[in-house]
Amino acid sequence: MEQLTLPKDFFFGAAMSGPQTEGEWKSGGKLENLWDLWSNLELDAFHNRVGSYGGNDFTRRHNEDFQIFKDLGLTSFRTSIQWSRLLDEDGNVNPEGEKYYHELFADAAASGLECFVNLYHFDMPAYLFRRGGWENREVVEAYANYAAKAFELFGKEIRCWFTFNEPIVEPDQRYQNGVWYPYLHNFNRAKVVQYNISVAHSLAVAAYRRAKAAGLMREDSRIGLINCFTPPYTRENPSEADLEAVRMTDGINNRWWLDLVTKGELPADVLDSLASRGVELPIRPGDAEILAQGKVDWLGCNYYHPERVQAPSREVDESGCPVFAEPYVWPEAKMNESRGWEIYPKGIYDFGMKLKNEYPELEFFVSENGMGVEHEWDFRDAETGVIQDDYRIEFVREHLAWIARAIADGANLVGYHYWAVVDNWSWSNAFKNRYGFVEVDLEDGYKRRLKKSANWLREVTKTHTLTVEEGK
Ligand code: FCB
Repeated sequence: MEQLTLPKDFFFGAAMSGPQTEGEWKSGGKLENLWDLWSNLELDAFHNRVGSYGGNDFTRRHNEDFQIFKDLGLTSFRTSIQWSRLLDEDGNVNPEGEKYYHELFADAAASGLECFVNLYHFDMPAYLFRRGGWENREVVEAYANYAAKAFELFGKEIRCWFTFNEPIVEPDQRYQNGVWYPYLHNFNRAKVVQYNISVAHSLAVAAYRRAKAAGLMREDSRIGLINCFTPPYTRENPSEADLEAVRMTDGINNRWWLDLVTKGELPADVLDSLASRGVELPIRPGDAEILAQGKVDWLGCNYYHPERVQAPSREVDESGCPVFAEPYVWPEAKMNESRGWEIYPKGIYDFGMKLKNEYPELEFFVSENGMGVEHEWDFRDAETGVIQDDYRIEFVREHLAWIARAIADGANLVGYHYWAVVDNWSWSNAFKNRYGFVEVDLEDGYKRRLKKSANWLREVTKTHTLTVEEGK
């Protein structure tokens, strides 16, 4: 057995988002976002026909959740402001939305918790989607206006700001892989969205720096970006073509964002490869100056699973999208069958080493990590009613172990937010896979109940020590 220690000032917290928890989708002047629009249009697309409306009842129960966070030894949590709640269709502040977030942040502070705020979590307001969403540069400008308003309104209340959560996901899920509404399969449009989000991020950072210079923000405030990062892996003894697949996967998913937030530019080799495959990005004169302002103070890394790729067997797919890589299934992979995601805790260590070597100045924290399991009630203890989620304890322990090792080996890694300390709504999967240390009982008015793992977590946050099998 190996004993590992996390630094004293290493922080633990909860990751969440507005659209997955708030509920109250129609009250307080909130406008429809894309999730509400899709739920209204096609409820069958959601697991058990549970649309976006309910969240996990956080709006009514947030003080109870804050007490749970405190009890588990967490000191911070992240949520997102919903653009569709804060602003009206003309880009003006919705007073009820403003009040909603002031109260939420005040309640968090009163509970002794720090609230990190993210500005966008896949939740495009529907009226802006109808105007072209991220493909329209006017929507990019509207986002910059929204960000500036948020800094102005809440700059004295919030220390840690983030422009986007996982900016690679919407281009993939909505525009390229056709998984989320509006189900597109268009690589060019996906990359236009990726590019425009990069511009939007940079404009928001510029607005933040202006707000700070004008004295509107807390002195100790900072801004960052959150993405799902993982160094891509390939087969043993790779061919040149396998390595090329790694270069482009790494280029589009990781380096694109890492270069943007550390150097204020996009990787030239990736832009060249995209151009050579006919991809046209909507680059405007003056964009280089905008992107140059995209440098951040720190980074959030969401890590659930590794990415394994190999050389593609075809140049384009059936929709005509260029294929740069194909999935590689590692014969030794250990899977979380519910989610279809590989469990590979060492990926977090490898990412820490990648940052240490290639972006040494950049501080980061693990901003999401977690295990979603279907039919968790099968694990409920008949007598106590407590879900015996030993698999979650093992999952988190092994990830924290690799975090401790990364820190010992020089990674600039300062904290850990677990995704969904309290079970919440997860997009089209709704409540299918449960992530929480705390169960939400949908048949009992969203009642919260601690799972076995909650008691384990409390010990870890108290002692900052872990006992793991050697090398696990
Ligand atoms: C991440 C998202 C988050 C949540 C988890 C399970 O990709 O950031 O909103 O749904 O997956």
